[in-house]
Amino acid sequence: MTHTLPPLPYAYDALEPYISSQIMTLHHTKHHQTYVNALNAAEAAYIKASTPKERIALQAALRFNGGGHINHSLFWTNLAPSHTEGKGVGGVLRDGPLKDAIISTFGSVETLKTEFNTTTAAIQGSGWGWLGLNPSSKRLEIVTTTNQDPLLSHVPIIGVDIWEHAFYLQYLNVKADYLKAIWNVINFEEAERRYLEAVGSSKL
Ligand SMILES: [Fe+2]
Repeated sequence: MTHTLPPLPYAYDALEPYISSQIMTLHHTKHHQTYVNALNAAEAAYIKASTPKERIALQAALRFNGGGHINHSLFWTNLAPSHTEGKGVGGVLRDGPLKDAIISTFGSVETLKTEFNTTTAAIQGSGWGWLGLNPSSKRLEIVTTTNQDPLLSHVPIIGVDIWEHAFYLQYLNVKADYLKAIWNVINFEEAERRYLEAVGSSKL
């Protein structure tokens, strides 16, 4: 049951000019691949571990690399080539249940983007910004996780990687510009699919 790197659902240069081909190539083939490799190594070591102490010692590696694999797998599919570039559906939020929920919760789509970017930019160090569905209230909320911690408290609807490896080669230290640009390549169709699945899930 080894994990493998999922293929990107688009070409490495498909998200340009908002996310460069160089970033996407390195991010997918180097960073994500490394999480996959390290997760497989940690799981193999866990199976061989014979004492509680040995298993406890592997928890950090499982959490970090397992989270990295989960988060990046989500991230690739919640991006899409930009509609403004004539390449795809990225950045387009059509009328429907997700748009209605966003407007009902945040007042407008623009307010969601502003609040999301403000909250996410404030993460100290590496982490992820999320639009998640609170399973208790069934309301959309903006939440963050640090390092590679996956979102466990909410159902992830949209996740944005704010590790420097996600933007530094193109946006240098200006995280705000990266966060502003990424809305042009957010796959709202995938976000709505996750939203509908979450709202309709009996597990919530
Ligand atoms: Fe990343």
